[in-house]
Amino acid sequence: MRVGVLTGGGDCPGLNAVIRAIVRKGVPLYGYSFLGFRDGWRGPLEALTMPLDIPAVRGLLPRGGTILGSSRTNPFAIDDGVERIRTNLQSLGVDALIVIGGEDTLGVATRLHELGVNVVGVPKTIDNDLSGTDYTFGFDTAVNIATEAIDRLHTTAESHHRALIVEVMGRHAGWIALHAGMAGGANAILIPEIRFDIEQVCRWVESRFRLDYAPIIVVSEGAKPKDGDEVLMTGEKDAFGHVRLGGIGDYLAREIESRTGKEARTTVLGHVQRGGTPTAFDRWLATRFGLHAVDAVHEGKWGHMTALRGTDIVMVPLSEATKELKVVDPALYAEAEVFFG
Ligand code: F6P
Repeated sequence: MRVGVLTGGGDCPGLNAVIRAIVRKGVPLYGYSFLGFRDGWRGPLEALTMPLDIPAVRGLLPRGGTILGSSRTNPFAIDDGVERIRTNLQSLGVDALIVIGGEDTLGVATRLHELGVNVVGVPKTIDNDLSGTDYTFGFDTAVNIATEAIDRLHTTAESHHRALIVEVMGRHAGWIALHAGMAGGANAILIPEIRFDIEQVCRWVESRFRLDYAPIIVVSEGAKPKDGDEVLMTGEKDAFGHVRLGGIGDYLAREIESRTGKEARTTVLGHVQRGGTPTAFDRWLATRFGLHAVDAVHEGKWGHMTALRGTDIVMVPLSEATKELKVVDPALYAEAEVFFG
């Protein structure tokens, strides 16, 4: 059997560890050969490939990014996109695809499976917002990077008696802000799921200054004020219809300064959260997902993706996992609120 592998959407630490595990198990145990597709769905669409054998995956375990490249290409937004993929898979002799991606990439995989393509999914995203799995790999690394940034910002905020705002990724879900904010002792955490009241935020800031501490506010890029919309970088949309977010941190700094008279500055962590070497947890999770994905191919579990439930890896239908995003439960947010102000 010849199996194609692709990585799509925003990259995240651990992608290479998945690819390595797939090849390291699939070649000796099942006798498969693998073909790497370049740059997400653009690979099968344009027949952009690279060899994927055991020498090609040596040394990949700790390496960030993806040797296959990634993109946000959507074959369903392109005329005859699906037909081109079918034709290319056939002419390259590819019997099945392992697709490593988030909501958009796996959404395409779900639809292709319904059209008869043999697909197994592996969930990835630093945002941790895919349903069906307790965690996605990449999330733990992003949370650790954000937590370290918060720890460092505490000392400089105290020295200058400033309010510091940390803008983290999280388009629809505030998982990174919630976990890093709690781990870093944030004064307030603002997430996309719960609109914030700027007057309340200013009260928290003032109360923290009164205690002779400097406030740190952690905000997801997709957080929205009570009476407004999310803040956009540009109005431009990608192939999946997502706008580019950015600017909520600066908005907060401006409002806090003008309403409290205290100096406020923003740090935007951006792609630092997605780059570099994965944590041990993400290497462990990504490796296990890779091993189980290749077993799923062997068992013909088409239309399913690997998922973490407790400490078990299970297979869940892609249609279930991509139906709706996994967002932060208000009860979890309430736990963090104890420390606000
Ligand atoms: O992968 C998801 C994500 O990290 C979002 O949190 C963020 O909005 C988006 O990627 C940014 O992606 P890009 O690098 O393509 O602008």
